[in-house]
Amino acid sequence: MSRFFITTPIYYVNAKPHLGHAYTTIVADSLARFHRLCGDETFFLTGTDEHGDKIVQAAEKAASTPQQYVDTVSAQFRDLWPELGVTNDDFIRTTEPRHRQVVQAVLQKVYDAGDIYLKNYEGLYCYGCEQFLTEKDLDADGCCPDHKVPPARISEANYFFRMSKYQGWLKEHILANPDFIRPERYRNEVLSMLDMGVLDDLCISRPKSRLTWGIELPFDTGYVTYVWFDALINYITALGWPDGELFARFWEHTDHLVAKDILKPHAVFWPTMLRAAGLPVYRHLNVHGYWLVKDTKMSKSLGNVVEPLALKDRYGLDAFRYFLLREMRFGRDASFSEDALVGRLNADLANDLGNLFSRVLAMTHKYFGGQVPDPGARTAPADPALGELARNALDNYAALFGRLEFGQALESLWELVRALNKYVDASAPWTLFKEGRTGELAGVMYTLLEMMRKVALCVWPVMPATAEAMTAQLGGRFDLARVDLDAEIRGFGGLEPGTVLAAGSNLFPRVEPPREEAAPRPAAKAKEKAREKAQPAKAAPAAQQTPGVIDFADFQKLDLRVGTVLAAEPHPDADRLFVVQVDLGEETPRQVVAGLREFFQAEDLLGRQVVVVANLAPRPLRGKTSHGMILAVRREGGMELLTASGPVAPGAKVS
Ligand code: MSP
Repeated sequence: MSRFFITTPIYYVNAKPHLGHAYTTIVADSLARFHRLCGDETFFLTGTDEHGDKIVQAAEKAASTPQQYVDTVSAQFRDLWPELGVTNDDFIRTTEPRHRQVVQAVLQKVYDAGDIYLKNYEGLYCYGCEQFLTEKDLDADGCCPDHKVPPARISEANYFFRMSKYQGWLKEHILANPDFIRPERYRNEVLSMLDMGVLDDLCISRPKSRLTWGIELPFDTGYVTYVWFDALINYITALGWPDGELFARFWEHTDHLVAKDILKPHAVFWPTMLRAAGLPVYRHLNVHGYWLVKDTKMSKSLGNVVEPLALKDRYGLDAFRYFLLREMRFGRDASFSEDALVGRLNADLANDLGNLFSRVLAMTHKYFGGQVPDPGARTAPADPALGELARNALDNYAALFGRLEFGQALESLWELVRALNKYVDASAPWTLFKEGRTGELAGVMYTLLEMMRKVALCVWPVMPATAEAMTAQLGGRFDLARVDLDAEIRGFGGLEPGTVLAAGSNLFPRVEPPREEAAPRPAAKAKEKAREKAQPAKAAPAAQQTPGVIDFADFQKLDLRVGTVLAAEPHPDADRLFVVQVDLGEETPRQVVAGLREFFQAEDLLGRQVVVVANLAPRPLRGKTSHGMILAVRREGGMELLTASGPVAPGAKVS
């Protein structure tokens, strides 16, 4: 059995959690879940970074003490994660006693080894910022850009970590271990950093006269340790270094996950600190890019900070998680937009995955009373080419996911989902049913249901609740302890014939794209009111007298029904027509010829609930008979289908 230790950065508590923090933590969660699915023993750590002068300043601004302040914000992070489906095994805070002890023990060890020394430091100090500035930080007048005063030149003794001593070793280690830092662009960035000249030693202290909110140096009570020497050590505190059982089990299997903003501390400070403390270094540093909004950084002052919980509430947690992993190419920056999220939700989740489930379940109910049919020998799928495609797609999915290429991994899994939808169309179960070819029909439906079960397992790391719902719809229960991913990729036939399926499936209803201007403008509202006033309170009834008006009895002649689209194929002889098979709850699907091709792709229609005029006399349209009419509404530049606002049983009457 392999082991896997995954960490996120510990987040500063001077700001509320936003999309960026949510992304890293959801990626870490998906990876942890993926490794659990592979049967690996897994430990997943996140937490908060709570010391330093920025935190003191934020607490002052909030009119509270540092301790009260960090308790409040740390709790916001801790409480957010379960809401986003995050399953961390531990949550570490740098203000905990367990962490103080470990930081002091590491400092003492490195100090005793002679790699920490006291040096006079002279620099430009801004009393407003309470920190040293470099010449580059100053504005054109030589002033602090925030406080508009020139910094003072002060001299202060501080402790330094002899980082430069380990520069050569670090470079060799990176060269000898090509995936120590990944993706490669960040590895190259670090190598060129190391090639640029001698590394400065790292200043690791602040005199208590300037900062008390930190961990005291064990060898000099006049100082606290500053930021990185404190924060990075959290990764070993949580495993109980030096003699914790978790440390022995997991440390050599460590994967850190960070964004590019904290590459240098993780790629240079941390390995050299570990080396100086006589500890082995981590296995992988995985570095991702930044989420931007309209190509700019998210920031409070720009008012473009994206709130993860608002997205979860609007679109559902699993769609949000799926979008984050599908859309960002790991390592690159990505632009966040709700339109893109809605696009993915409608295309990949509602059209491809959701429709597959609703169509196949509906057909199994119709043809086999809602039970998994018995295909006879269950050793291979009914269609060998589909079997081959599935094995490749699942294999690639697992390999790419393990290498953090999430977008490509999901794309590979969706090749299978789309192939299954095509397989429904190509094998036309409704025809097999009509022609009484029950054996073949059982083979086709079993193949579909079995493949859907595999897809459900595979999406669990990214969309856990959906995976569990899909498994339940297929009559099973998601049980991590019993999953053997490798066997699932290669094998076939795990689904038991006779298993009772759920009555129906509606995993991802389509959603409308967000509107820029949701509320009507006040002027428009006033006009509308005026118009309402000008209208008579009630329209006159009297159908008989008014031309073009029908009686209720006329209306009752219409038989309008809601049905689910099972298949849609281009009409062989008419560019604008589809030949659509609609499940109207009848013995066999209804064939309707519909002029929808100008505005819809076949996949847009699959699984959709549509309103059909069910009692129109059949009429041939270019050689294909239409047994009804699908209702749609024209709008500028497109067309919308009439539908029910929620799922209803196929054949439900519109009244
Ligand atoms: N406290 C340090 C980390 C110490 S780790 C030993 C810190 N905290 S932070 O709150 O600023 O978090 C930075 C991390 O948040 C990034 O590395 C990334 O994981 C995440 N993100 C913050 N903004 C982000 C984006 N806009 N996009 C993607 N991730 C981002 O640095």
